[in-house]
Amino acid sequence: PATHLSLARDFTVAPVPPRLFGSFVEHMGRCVYTGIYEPDHPKADVHGLRSDVLDLTREVGPTVVRYPGGNFVSGYDWEDGVGPRGERPRRLERAWRSIETNEFGLSEFVRWADLVGTEPMMAVNLGTRGVQEACDLLEYANHPGGTRLSDLRRAHGDTDPYGVRLWCLGNEMDGPWQVGHKTAHEYGRLAAETGRAMRLVDPSVELVACGSSSRSMPTFGEWERVVLEEAYDVVDHISAHAYYEEHEGPHGLADFLACAADMDAFVDEVVATADAVRARGRHSKTITISFDEWNVWYQSRYRASEIAAGTSEWAVAPRVIEDEYSLTDAVVVGTLLNSLLRHSDRVAIGCQAQLVNVIGLLRSEPGGAAWKQTIAHPFEQVRRHAVGEVLAVRSRGDRHESDAYGDVPVVDASATWDEDSRSLSLFVANRSVDETSTLTADLLDFGSLRVVDAQVLAAEEGQDRHVRNDATGPERVRLRRLAGVTVDGGALALRLPPLSWAVVRLG
Ligand code: AHR
Repeated sequence: PATHLSLARDFTVAPVPPRLFGSFVEHMGRCVYTGIYEPDHPKADVHGLRSDVLDLTREVGPTVVRYPGGNFVSGYDWEDGVGPRGERPRRLERAWRSIETNEFGLSEFVRWADLVGTEPMMAVNLGTRGVQEACDLLEYANHPGGTRLSDLRRAHGDTDPYGVRLWCLGNEMDGPWQVGHKTAHEYGRLAAETGRAMRLVDPSVELVACGSSSRSMPTFGEWERVVLEEAYDVVDHISAHAYYEEHEGPHGLADFLACAADMDAFVDEVVATADAVRARGRHSKTITISFDEWNVWYQSRYRASEIAAGTSEWAVAPRVIEDEYSLTDAVVVGTLLNSLLRHSDRVAIGCQAQLVNVIGLLRSEPGGAAWKQTIAHPFEQVRRHAVGEVLAVRSRGDRHESDAYGDVPVVDASATWDEDSRSLSLFVANRSVDETSTLTADLLDFGSLRVVDAQVLAAEEGQDRHVRNDATGPERVRLRRLAGVTVDGGALALRLPPLSWAVVRLG
């Protein structure tokens, strides 16, 4: 297959949104406990935070991290997670049938986020709680002092307010599985009233309303319309969540490799709905999307069904949806990152879900090692090298057929251009499972560029597309130099191995 890309300096989408490369830490399975926090681990710091996981988190570098859920937040009393550890209650955690010890809570999360150097993004419980508890949490977190709750924070040892700007008004309230699930009207009213009251406590907050849990929800579209009609003036962003997996059957792999087309359509449709509400309501501001859960997730595996059926044992930090990602999954994650970049004019926030162990970028074993999953590589590279303006890439060439999403380019591409450093970054995925793809692009518009670096994620000798990283081979799947990338008279040419993802940097 062959693909030609057209790029030009003036054909831009938007500046790279700084919050596009976020992640998510939920009190779910082993994301918090034995993930980021494990006081008995040999590498734990004085606060019980795992320094090995902290180091890997800094390397992959999420720019924002959402917390504490997820489905978890819809039954959570934030007061359980503050104050002296010995006095915190153990609770039945209903969303994931776990025992929550509350050893880790708001203060610990804010400290961890500070050590990582990431922005915290908090969610409030609009499942079992409402306006008052959301305002109480905000007062505890952000008010400097001199009131009952801000002084309580100070008494708990945190003199300075946390200054959390970004707040989610609940989680997936459209989902019948959600504790406190609501209709669009019920939720839209509650989100509007909660947001309005939160802004009275702290006018500087940015608010995210819950959109749809997936594009395939029966209420998709209507949910966004009704929620935004109630809450348009109060909120800044509306959320979107999407998880993809390779299904069994003759079309499974081809569909999976094309699933970024679903993410593209999801964003376009939420934008169309939000803009229709803007026009009808004579609003002036523009709502942006917080794509605050996205990833590959094999929903049919790894214990999710026992939890849903209520047949699993109640346990502290059980192993839940600890998906082990393959090379194929990493290539798909690369295409999902491209989709987010392509929509950077309207997607302001992106949170890959989740950071560690639970459908994680990272894995860690209790008392043992921590390592990067395959999917961490495209995430880290795009986060590092997507700089400046996102370019509107036009591609011409061979197509990849899929049953579920129609045909998409064999080579999926996105690009950024940074005028200050005069650097161009290309992020490309070859969807062809058994053929090398050639890629060409005309770069004359960018002046004289040379190749600074080119790295590829592909099967090495003796590996196949199912290869994974694990405790015995934490670097089995890693980036390697992509040889043979040339720029001749402004014409870029390279060859992408079958089923691969690559980053090419020019300057
Ligand atoms: O990320 C795992 C779960 O997926 C979250 O708790 C929920 O919001 C979504 O359904």
